[in-house]
Parts: sequence; C-alpha cells; structure tokens
Amino acid sequence: MKMYRILLIFLATVLFCSVAEALLDGNSEQTVNVICKQTIDTTFCRSVFAKKLNTPSPSKKDLLNVTVAEAQRFSANTYFFISTLLRDAGDEKPRLQMCAEAYAIVNTAFTNAVSFFNQGIYNKILKLKDDVSTGVSICKTDFSVSGYKINPMIKKNREALVFTAMENIIGQMAS
Ligand SMILES: *[C@@H]1O[C@H](CO)[C@@H](O)[C@H](O)[C@H]1NC(C)=O
Repeated sequence: MKMYRILLIFLATVLFCSVAEALLDGNSEQTVNVICKQTIDTTFCRSVFAKKLNTPSPSKKDLLNVTVAEAQRFSANTYFFISTLLRDAGDEKPRLQMCAEAYAIVNTAFTNAVSFFNQGIYNKILKLKDDVSTGVSICKTDFSVSGYKINPMIKKNREALVFTAMENIIGQMAS
C-alpha cells in the first residue's frame, strides 16, 4: 500500500513536470515576455525576437544566439551611422566624435559576445555589461544633430542598453 502511494506521487510528479515543460516550450511567447519586461524598452526587445526567431519553440541558446548576433549588427551599424553624421556635422562634431568612440567600445563588447557565444562560454558574456554601460555613458545626447528634431543617439543609446540587458538576462538563463 505504501509502495503504491509513493509510486503514485512519483508518477504525478513526472506528469506534472512534463506538462509544465510542454507549456513552457509551446509558450515561448511567455519566455520572451519575461525577458523583455526586465529591459527598459519591452517593445524594442520583443521586435528583435519577432524579426529574427525562426523556430516556434526556441531554446535559451537560440534566444541568446539571436540576441548576440543582432546586438553586434546593431553596434556595427550604429558606428557606421555616426560616421555618416560626422560628414555633415558642424558645431556638434566633437560631441559626435565622442559617440563614435563610445560605439567603438560598444561594438568591441558586442563582437566579443558573439565570440564567447560561439565558444559556449556564456558567463563571459555577462561581464560585458560594464563595457557597454561605459561606452553608452561616453556618448552624451544633450546636443542637436542637424537634420534631426530629436538627437538620434538617444534612441541608439537606449537600444544598446536593451541589447546588453537581454544578453545578461538570457546569458544567466542559459549558463
Ligand atoms: C546561431 O544562428 C545562426 C544563424 O541562424 C546559425 O547558423 C548557427 O548555427 C547558430 N549557432 C548556434 C550555436 O546555435
């Protein structure tokens, strides 16, 4: 009788765990929400996954893969974008040059993240957060850029911080 009871509890536990697992897998949407709500721009975070995930039930590794790849693409594009702004820059040139320096740092960090991901050393990705924050803090945004109503670097800085938060959150989940 006692054995039977233990067996029943065991089976119930196994069943519960597999259902929970199945729900979690099928409901990747929920995982993405949990991740994105911890960032400063939920909409932007969700859009990164919406555009790039090619499986309905991605693993944490898949989520991290998309994140590091998109972060690196973003930082390289932003560095290039600043160089195009510098071409037409007037008074704002020195401030933009600071942003170029900042994004060289951010781009190095996000490039290292891709390389750490490929080597499977996820905990090293977590340490890049400080480099990104430092980089972003160098790019001040209290100046105007000709041709723009709002300094476009405000948006770029926010997105850089979202990417690094995503890498940190998923890096912790995956390691
Ligand atoms: C990461 O994503 C790329 C592009 O989708 C894919 O080719 C590569 O195999 C993925 N890497 C890992 C380790 O999952």
